[in-house]
Amino acid sequence: MRKVVIAGNWKMFKTQVQAREFLTAFLPKLQDVPQNRAVVLCVPFTDLATVAIQLDGSRAALGAQNVHWEDSGAFTGEIAAPMLTELGVGYVIIGHSERREFFGETDETVNLRLKAAQHHGLIPILCVGETKQEREAGETEARIFAQLDKDLAGVDQSNLIIAYEPIWAIGTGETCDCEEANRVIGLIRSQLTNPEVSIQYGGSVKANNIDDIMAQPEIDGVLVGGASLDPDSFARIVNHR
Ligand code: PGA
Repeated sequence: MRKVVIAGNWKMFKTQVQAREFLTAFLPKLQDVPQNRAVVLCVPFTDLATVAIQLDGSRAALGAQNVHWEDSGAFTGEIAAPMLTELGVGYVIIGHSERREFFGETDETVNLRLKAAQHHGLIPILCVGETKQEREAGETEARIFAQLDKDLAGVDQSNLIIAYEPIWAIGTGETCDCEEANRVIGLIRSQLTNPEVSIQYGGSVKANNIDDIMAQPEIDGVLVGGASLDPDSFARIVNHR
């Protein structure tokens, strides 16, 4: 059975003090979260150690927002998988569109990062999605299939989460129509060798649209940016119907 995974992506928000304040308000709201629902917080590297302590014994798991493919080496500014696993990190976002757009991430480096994450027992959340221009040109499927093809070459699909994040819906308030997201996610699934991979939707997920999104049969969870920064709104998303 496909697992429901609700993940927050804090991006470059929250100092350690702010992270602790968030968790003090958020964690008590997780008491009634159903068993088949994973809750993940993907926090900035500098918050990992402190958040790990507070999450210990809680209903939520710890995630990072990137990982390098080498175990160590002269790679200034990068973080290796053993550095994450030592802190109790279980999940890692790979290939987010902001990394691809602003930091030169390519399908080749995404592929290397995915394999390294899996090698160290981290569950990767691979992000794929099309730009507005690609959507308007009718290239949505081609774009996503090309990403999947390159990103997943040689990747173990039994230890993987995919997030469909249409780039034009990220941080814009312009959510993708639920049925359209459902359709694209069904197409993504048709490209996989393992039909049990959980596939999330991401892009302007909020407390007021989560129930409609999760009512779609192909959508196995959400990757949430802005609305994961507020304990009440993220708790509402986690506790969706
Ligand atoms: P958003 O971000 O929820 O703020 O649109 C989603 C994401 O970038 O993962």
